[in-house]
Amino acid sequence: MTTGTTDRLAAAADAARLAPSVHNTQPWRWVVREDQLELYAEPGRQLREQDPDGRLLTLSCGAALHHALVALTAEGFAARVERPAATPLAVVHAEPHGPADPAAMRRLQLLRVRHTDRRVASEEPISAEVLHELTEAARRAGARLAVLNRDQVLQLAVMIEHSGEAQQHDERMRAETAEWVGGERSEGTGLPDTVIPAELPLTTVAERDFGVSTGKLDAGTGHDTAAQYAILHGDGDDPADWLRAGEALSELWLAATEHGAAVLPLSSPVEMGFTRQALRRMLGETGYPFLVLRLGTADPDHAGPPHTPRLSAEQVIEIV
Ligand SMILES: Cc1cc2nc3c(=O)[nH]c(=O)nc-3n(C[C@H](O)[C@H](O)[C@H](O)COP(=O)(O)O)c2cc1C
Repeated sequence: MTTGTTDRLAAAADAARLAPSVHNTQPWRWVVREDQLELYAEPGRQLREQDPDGRLLTLSCGAALHHALVALTAEGFAARVERPAATPLAVVHAEPHGPADPAAMRRLQLLRVRHTDRRVASEEPISAEVLHELTEAARRAGARLAVLNRDQVLQLAVMIEHSGEAQQHDERMRAETAEWVGGERSEGTGLPDTVIPAELPLTTVAERDFGVSTGKLDAGTGHDTAAQYAILHGDGDDPADWLRAGEALSELWLAATEHGAAVLPLSSPVEMGFTRQALRRMLGETGYPFLVLRLGTADPDHAGPPHTPRLSAEQVIEIV
């Protein structure tokens, strides 16, 4: 192996810093060795109250893994991944394969523009073709996307109201959210005021109420009647399944970004056991729910919300 390979592995871990994560906790750590890249969960950045099993932590790590793989492919590397789904969560072996691939380069660019959009979705619904592509993207990466019908969306709205209320009434959960959300967030993690709606927008299914009164995002007026809701789910409910779900989330989010679709993950119903069970029943008990997603068409006339901060490379990547 060459130092060139090690450099590319380090660059892939660097690109993975852009991955989405619950409350922007970035709960991962990379170790770059001469010929392999190892992904570890960072327990110090786990949400102990909202995510005691590490489901959302592992899902976030899966999104980071997928980001690293996109970066390696863009550089002309072929990657093979072992997923012990314990410690480490994944090991990436990479070998130079050919010249940089323009389609893969394009995906790398999409990683850089992808973001969470908490603004009201525009009145233009996502086309059936794009929805199909997002479903295929999730399937390719090893998970499934169930797009909800109107009745199911109304049931989801009630579920999310209940999970949100239960969290609001739990002092420890409120305190945990406050640790990660609101303010300027100059330390490189969490959600700054600039991405939190100044006022909760009118939506069929409520957005997460972070309990922050200093939000600065203009979420727009109108009602998101054109938004679609979907459940990312899979066959099992083990860490290996959560990791795959994270990879699928990243894969489908890239496809959404390519088509101008806005994605908003809603995880509170997955965090609470009683609503997670209700989501499972909604899936006809054929799968385990990992995340609810709101899908809409991004507002083409206004720039999206700013990017959330990230930890520095030195804080999450160790080159040995
Ligand atoms: C597993 C997971 C769960 C999330 N849950 C929520 C949520 O319930 N509500 C919300 O507004 N954003 C949610 N997000 C979005 C994150 O807050 C967002 O990814 C993070 O702040 C980084 O910002 P970015 O996606 O714009 O890069 C979630 C993201 C992930 C990966």
